[in-house]
Amino acid sequence: MAGHRVLIVDDEPVILKMLGDVLSRAGYEVETAQTGSDALEAFLRNPPDCAIIDKTLPDTDGIILLGQFRIRDPDAQVMLLTGYPTLDSVVEALRLGAVDYVLKPLQSLELLSVKVGKAIEIRHGAAERKRLVQELVRANEDLREERERLRRSYLDTIEAMVNALEARDRYTVGHSERVAGFAARIARALTMSPADVERVTHAALLHDVGKIGVCEGILNKPGLLNEREWEDMRRHPVIGCELLGHGALFSEVLPGVRSHHERVDGEGYPDRLSGEDIPHLARIISVADTYDALTSDRPYRRRCPPDEARAIIEAVAGPQLDPDFVEVFGRLMATGELHSEPRGRLQLIRGG
Ligand SMILES: [Fe+2]
Repeated sequence: MAGHRVLIVDDEPVILKMLGDVLSRAGYEVETAQTGSDALEAFLRNPPDCAIIDKTLPDTDGIILLGQFRIRDPDAQVMLLTGYPTLDSVVEALRLGAVDYVLKPLQSLELLSVKVGKAIEIRHGAAERKRLVQELVRANEDLREERERLRRSYLDTIEAMVNALEARDRYTVGHSERVAGFAARIARALTMSPADVERVTHAALLHDVGKIGVCEGILNKPGLLNEREWEDMRRHPVIGCELLGHGALFSEVLPGVRSHHERVDGEGYPDRLSGEDIPHLARIISVADTYDALTSDRPYRRRCPPDEARAIIEAVAGPQLDPDFVEVFGRLMATGELHSEPRGRLQLIRGG
């Protein structure tokens, strides 16, 4: 117990000496005070590992002093010395955090020394727990910062990729963000969680990113593509997945990128998936993508009016598009919600 400090507060010098001698012999550093104000000053100057306070002091009540100690240091270990304990005073002392109380006259000085040792063990246990909690909080904070850094890098990469795609493919300028806006509205109407809506939005922004790897002559050809050119064009979902890599950063959006040209009847590409085997994410993007393609000018055809595009989409619900998502899309068209609150790319990427 060497090095541990005990503050004894009692107005009777005889008691101070007796307790001081016992605790010094047990190896404690002892400080004494005869009044509440001296005790508080000693406590503030050099907080003890344990304090023993007489309930009756000349200038204050020991219970009040106990409260003052505990306000300044919630882990302060305080024992109350009392000659005439009442149930109320004992309850009040324990409520204020007294670790124990000792009856006067003292029956066993050795027992007091043992009690002081236990109080100090409790204090050091509490300090150790506090240190561990602080370490845990710091580690969590580091983890949060790292996650935030990764997220910023993820969002910046999405933005850079969409910019790179639109720089190459002039016919799809604005296409990615319109598809993302429609897909996000369908996802919200399906009452998906905010995290899932964000996943759908990001996958939709990136769905055609693989066109970065398709020859510019094909992307910007002012007419219909021949069979060989179509073959090249049909590689873009797979190229998109290769571009986004196989690491963890884009793993959640890859199914939307790879499978957005699959068809419910299995006649799509690149994997000829059918029905429920087509990822949920991709089936939502397909509806939004088809609608935006129909309502946009292409070099080989004029855009459809929205109602005509809706009729075409409803006609292919079943063989090509997921009928459940087409139904949600139809509801949003009917209420005008599909086109509500157009949001810019930055808002779509970063939320809000
Ligand atoms: Fe596509």
